[in-house]
Amino acid sequence: MITEKAVLTEKAGEEQYDRAVRLLHEGELVAFPTETVYGLGALATSEEAVRKIYEAKGRPSDNPLIAHVGTAEEVSEYACDVPEKARILMDAFWPGPLTLILRAAPGVFAPSVTAGLDTVGLRMPDHPVALKLLRRFGRPVAAPSANTSGKPSPTSADHVATDLDGKISYILDGGRTGIGIESTVLDLTSDIPAILRPGAVTADMLVPLIGPVNGSAEASEAGTDAPRAPGMKYTHYSPDAPVFLIRPDRNRIGEAVRSLQEEGHRIALVAPEEFGGSDADWFFPAGREGDPESVSADLYDALRACDRTGADIILAASVGEEGIGRAVMNRLNKAAGGKWFGR
Ligand code: TXA
Ligand code: MG
Repeated sequence: MITEKAVLTEKAGEEQYDRAVRLLHEGELVAFPTETVYGLGALATSEEAVRKIYEAKGRPSDNPLIAHVGTAEEVSEYACDVPEKARILMDAFWPGPLTLILRAAPGVFAPSVTAGLDTVGLRMPDHPVALKLLRRFGRPVAAPSANTSGKPSPTSADHVATDLDGKISYILDGGRTGIGIESTVLDLTSDIPAILRPGAVTADMLVPLIGPVNGSAEASEAGTDAPRAPGMKYTHYSPDAPVFLIRPDRNRIGEAVRSLQEEGHRIALVAPEEFGGSDADWFFPAGREGDPESVSADLYDALRACDRTGADIILAASVGEEGIGRAVMNRLNKAAGGKWFGR
């Protein structure tokens, strides 16, 4: 394919870090792996550089970006009024899949990083390639997930190239990401901290350290659930064909596939590997039954694979809400727009 600017993908090594750092200094975009998903990085203090992120992704400009740091010490330069709870959580979970929303230090970030808010999301990713890049660069890197806005986030360099070839200059390839879904976003600027986006760091892990948290399972049952992060109102994580959630029950899936095929549909099934024997036209395994971490790791790759088929309906098996299962269900619900097959 001939593109304006073919993307260069290289395995991370010494020269590659140098190239990535040079490009970031020049205000170019660099995609890099984290432990959650690939990020699309730009120098967070440069408005011109950060605007390129929104352009490449086709991202709505009212949706702020996460600034990535290589050390916890940098936080006092980038945020002010940092509460004790933030220090406790950084000690416990950084580097790791927890983004903290804090008051932004005035004048540091390009306005497009915070989308005009007076707060900023900060995160130190737990991935050797990301950490080495961030520490060499020594400046904050604004990085949303490196996908076209609305598509599932990328968990491999290939996914990034599929979405952004011709739109970005460089991908630092660090193989497949581990966790597979985006970080937990925790707002520490409200009286009671609020989970704005669930992720691998769960309310159960936060509460023993900092006390009550809104957006925990209890809060959503009581109807006092926190407002979502600005980005959560948009359609997200969606393959091209409509997605329907379905309970992971062999008979139910078998009947759904049969009745939909009788109506002339072609079905892709995304479910734990144990569901491989169904009559679906395409099957993309996502993890193993009763193991939500393994589902999380495979989910976006499986959803993306559906776009390379002729399926006009995608059935996706639900998971239990224990541990990271809650975050997996949050993403699946978004992908399905809340639709279930015969619930
Ligand atoms: O795991 C991740 O978090 C990945 C990797 C690359 O680090 N990044 C990521 O970024 O998922 P993005 O831009 O796709 O999602 C950032 C989320 C959005 O839902 C956004 O609305 C929210 O964080 N967010 C960012 N800054 C915020 C702020 N100041 N206040 C409230 N929400 C914020
Ligand atoms: Mg994203």
